[in-house]
Amino acid sequence: MLAKIVINADNKKGKISKNIYGHFAEHLGRCIYGGFWVGKDSEIPNIDGIRKDVVEALKKIKIPVLRWPGGCFADEYHWKDGIGPYESRPKMVNVHWGGVIENNHFGTHEFFELCDLLNAEPYICGNVGSGTVQEMREWIEYMTFDGESPMASLRASNGRKEPWKLKYFGVGNESWGCGGNMRPEYYVDVYRRYSTYVRNFGSNRIFKIACGPNTNDYNWTEVLMREAGKFMDGLSLHYYTVPGTWERKGTATNFDEEEWFITMKKALYMDELITKHSTIMDKYDSEKSVALVVDEWGTWYDVEPGTNPGFLYQQNTMRDALVAGIHFNIFNKHCDRVKMANIAQTVNVLQAVILTDGPQMVLTPTYHVFDMYKVHQDAELLDFNIDTPEYMVDSEESIPQVTATVSTDDSGKIHISLCNLSPKESITVECELRGANVNKVTGTILTADEMNAHNTFDNPNKVVPKEFDEIKITENKMVITMPKMAIVGVKACI
Ligand code: AHR
Repeated sequence: MLAKIVINADNKKGKISKNIYGHFAEHLGRCIYGGFWVGKDSEIPNIDGIRKDVVEALKKIKIPVLRWPGGCFADEYHWKDGIGPYESRPKMVNVHWGGVIENNHFGTHEFFELCDLLNAEPYICGNVGSGTVQEMREWIEYMTFDGESPMASLRASNGRKEPWKLKYFGVGNESWGCGGNMRPEYYVDVYRRYSTYVRNFGSNRIFKIACGPNTNDYNWTEVLMREAGKFMDGLSLHYYTVPGTWERKGTATNFDEEEWFITMKKALYMDELITKHSTIMDKYDSEKSVALVVDEWGTWYDVEPGTNPGFLYQQNTMRDALVAGIHFNIFNKHCDRVKMANIAQTVNVLQAVILTDGPQMVLTPTYHVFDMYKVHQDAELLDFNIDTPEYMVDSEESIPQVTATVSTDDSGKIHISLCNLSPKESITVECELRGANVNKVTGTILTADEMNAHNTFDNPNKVVPKEFDEIKITENKMVITMPKMAIVGVKACI
């Protein structure tokens, strides 16, 4: 099998926003409680209640932005319940996610501290579904007002005199579903109203993100862009890779090749979604000043046996690693419109990059893909053309066997990321570099022998990146021999 890639090294296509490698943490299952937050009195090493091991692991992959507090939870969340002394914070029922008691110990101050520790931009989603305009306006004032004001004084009385910098703010989550079951014609006016009061206090400038479509609801995008395009900086898009149906999604670790193929195919569908939503956006915004923000993406399977169905806890295999690689290649390709994407979710929920169990922590294959792709953060996408064989299970349907990203960084190095989607065929990838000669290359690979290979607390290093040297250089060509189901990162010095 042979794939050919022609790279035009002097044709830069635009900057790949680092925020494409963003994250999402919701008050759902053990994402916040147990995942990020253990409380100050925990024996698990922590900084003011925030897990040290998780922070260190996430710093390594340079997570640029973190979305919080939901998800569906955001439209039930009343921020004033999450400030002040812990003992006086009211409890609530987390109705969406397992009906468990939320004690509100992780609130606004704790979130900003977490973002500080991670060196990540905070992205807050406001409550439109069950909150008032006043509540949203006051939250913005509480977080960002510099000077004398009721909310700034309240903030100071809770120990924080200085305002925080807040850039990204979402006006509702899934307002077409759990966030209020609204029609686009109704939500668009609600958005215009609520977003009016999302004020820029002092020097703080907020990037307002409107609730965008569910999957292929193109009419939602049309109405939002037509009626409110000029009032927003970003429009969200949610799409999950579900191998089966919503009722029977399929399991995370027990699947055959047909299910592997369907998963890859469904992940690749993101390309069509972005293309079609972008075409509608172009109609109203040819300058591309409104960003498409894919603030929820990832695999969604049936929960692990014996776990709370409302906690969405699932394992993560080599299949998930390739789903992540596919998504990054698609987002990077569309970097003119896609300015942010947030995997759902960072810890212990859905396509998590980290799993924890009490004091134990394990990094999933998806984590390692984030690590391998971080070289593309804020790099320039390079023009390339790929000619790849198709991968198929039966002769009915096929998908490309190889997908890729090529970018160049500040120092002029070229980074090539390749995904071989076939779980049974290796492939030779011939890369021709036009406009540059390769001097030296280094490579990294993530691969496995079985489709469902995954890391566990007992065996945390089953799927980890390794050095890779199956790369031959001849003047302006690199010939890369990739094993089956693999992700390869090549750094080329020119
Ligand atoms: O990520 C889990 C849930 O999926 C989010 O809360 C919601 O926005 C989406 O439906």
